[in-house]
Amino acid sequence: MTTSKRLIAEAERALKSSDAIDHPHFGKERTDAEEILTHLLGREAEPLEEVAGPTLARFQRLIARRMSGEPVAYLTGTTMFGELELEVRPGAFIPRQSSEFMATQAVRRLRGRPIPIHVDLATGIGPVALVVGAALPRAKVFGVDVSAKPVALARRNAARLRLRNVTFLKGDLFDPLPDHLAGRVDLVTIHPPYVPRREMRTLPEEIARFEPKESLTDDSPKGDRILRRVAAEAPDWLRPSGWLLVEVSPDRAREVSTILRRSGFRDVRSTKGPVPVSRVVLGRI
Ligand SMILES: C[S@@+](CC[C@H](N)C(=O)[O-])C[C@H]1O[C@@H](n2cnc3c(N)ncnc32)[C@H](O)[C@@H]1O
Repeated sequence: MTTSKRLIAEAERALKSSDAIDHPHFGKERTDAEEILTHLLGREAEPLEEVAGPTLARFQRLIARRMSGEPVAYLTGTTMFGELELEVRPGAFIPRQSSEFMATQAVRRLRGRPIPIHVDLATGIGPVALVVGAALPRAKVFGVDVSAKPVALARRNAARLRLRNVTFLKGDLFDPLPDHLAGRVDLVTIHPPYVPRREMRTLPEEIARFEPKESLTDDSPKGDRILRRVAAEAPDWLRPSGWLLVEVSPDRAREVSTILRRSGFRDVRSTKGPVPVSRVVLGRI
């Protein structure tokens, strides 16, 4: 038997000693341990609360998995995206805080349209589509992903959030969209897999070992195969002056801007949100 305070301190020390996990900032190991304990208890622990029996055993098992590099979101089965709590499981990409900026940009551009139509390609568990659906109840939102697991989770997330205006479809980019949307979409968003094939081995172990490969790379030498296809195909789906928003890392923003301009997009620019690890490149047709 031990108190939650001591348990968290021990877990923090153990996590700090692990080579398999990123140590991005001071205190991360502690918040990871606290999050895991909160998940097991279903509430925040009191500092002097005794933790024992099956809860203690489960906590120790989850900390051991965390020490091996498994992301906290897979251990707890949930992640926060803005104000939305989303279910996430192994086999699906864990939404990044940086993508909240793209969701905000999308809402800003769609607000004011009578019935906005938004398509979120490579939607994963649906964070961007769900934020737009929640912010704009009159919008019709379509999220598409090629992989079955994230699509199933995205549908569960929409159901739990009671968002009936968001539809998730399984398939390759624009393929599963109904034909009648051609030329009528107000805005397309995508946070694509864009890591060049040869750079996969440079990714942190936590990402490369645990997140699905198809969510990270399109397996092309430059990581631009999906980006180029989207830029070429989006004009057929967008209404005149409709927007395409692409989230990429800062080092890829210039190249994506060029791809968009060459595909006929205008007003192309790269925008920067509060999280410095990504940019949203946008342009209109
Ligand atoms: C970087 S993740 C982004 C997920 C989500 N938008 C987010 O930000 O959390 C990329 C997603 O693209 C999906 N994907 C890969 N190739 C695809 C394709 N050809 N068509 C649709 N989705 C694809 C992957 O399954 C993965 O869920």
